[in-house]
Amino acid sequence: MNNLKFSILNFQFQIFRSLFPLPASRVTLCPMSSPRKILIQMDSDPHASVFDRVVAIDSGVDELFSCGNVALEEVQALVHGAIFTRGPKDLRNTAIFVGGSDVAKGEAMLQRVVKSFLGPLRCSVMLDANGANTTAAAAVLRAGKHLELANTTALVLGGTGPVGQRVARLLARQGATVRLGSRSVEKAAGAVAQINQTVGGQRVSAVATGDDAQVAGAVAGCQVVIAAGAAGVRLLSASVRKSAAALKVAIDLNAVPPLGIEGVDVFDKEKPVDGIIVYGAIGVGGTKMKIHKAAVAALFESNDQVLDAEAIYEIGRKLT
Ligand SMILES: NC(=O)c1ccc[n+]([C@@H]2O[C@H](COP(=O)([O-])OP(=O)(O)OC[C@H]3O[C@@H](n4cnc5c(N)ncnc54)[C@H](OP(=O)(O)O)[C@@H]3O)[C@@H](O)[C@H]2O)c1
Repeated sequence: MNNLKFSILNFQFQIFRSLFPLPASRVTLCPMSSPRKILIQMDSDPHASVFDRVVAIDSGVDELFSCGNVALEEVQALVHGAIFTRGPKDLRNTAIFVGGSDVAKGEAMLQRVVKSFLGPLRCSVMLDANGANTTAAAAVLRAGKHLELANTTALVLGGTGPVGQRVARLLARQGATVRLGSRSVEKAAGAVAQINQTVGGQRVSAVATGDDAQVAGAVAGCQVVIAAGAAGVRLLSASVRKSAAALKVAIDLNAVPPLGIEGVDVFDKEKPVDGIIVYGAIGVGGTKMKIHKAAVAALFESNDQVLDAEAIYEIGRKLT
């Protein structure tokens, strides 16, 4: 009897629904949530960087696909896996992070990623191999906190490395006059030619910084020195630093003793020392971490961003 009553009621309900249908927006009982944020980490090292993985999660990534030992010829297949799965509208929720300790390999991978996109079938991508882009952006932003960069002469020690070249490039983009230091002035000249061609103009010049006397000559008249030398190498002695009369800011990016600038501690942050403001590598690290997280989060704002040094610097500039 109960079954019969239920059937009649159900039949009446179906007739009622066919006469008075619900608006489409109210029919959906379980609305579709927006797709999960997927970050595909492409790393040329055997194990994808744990540092970059932790930052990805802390930046709000829902799913992290970490690929280690990625060879250049494997990049296209990984990109196609990313772009053929979701419609163009949802591809803003898929992004790529290119890392690894080899910055040159990372640069080549970034180019291959971009080349593998197919029109609107693309996703945003960020390059931060060996932390070079976020570290350089953080150093230049800290310098710009104290100096009008367009009216500044800067010395970049260890300027031929991936971090140093990016520091020089970003400083030049801000209108600074830049001296790029190396133990070999010919090596410096190679990096300088590339940077000046990229930026346009001749803001960057090569200087020899192989010994104290050369460093003293190179730093004379500079308002800022940024030491981007290899880990565990001292590039600026305390006596040369103190003799640089125009110097206002000194930033060291080397966290491994002996540190890059004598008398600047790794934890120093905006610290007055001998009449100038100094930063050590960890002192700059807080800014670097903020920029790294903000850049990863920004990847998911649209599907067409390519975040290299300049774009990452801009993200950092908006934070400070
Ligand atoms: N805080 C962070 O998250 C972070 C991230 C990335 C890098 N870093 C630090 O930033 C610094 C720069 O990184 P990088 O990868 O660009 O460095 P790098 O390529 O290892 O070295 C930079 C330059 O240092 C010079 N150099 C190497 N050995 C030297 C020696 N024995 N004596 C004098 N100069 C020497 C070389 O220039 P020349 O041969 O032309 O003289 C080299 O091009 C490093 O100290 C690194 O640890 C920090």
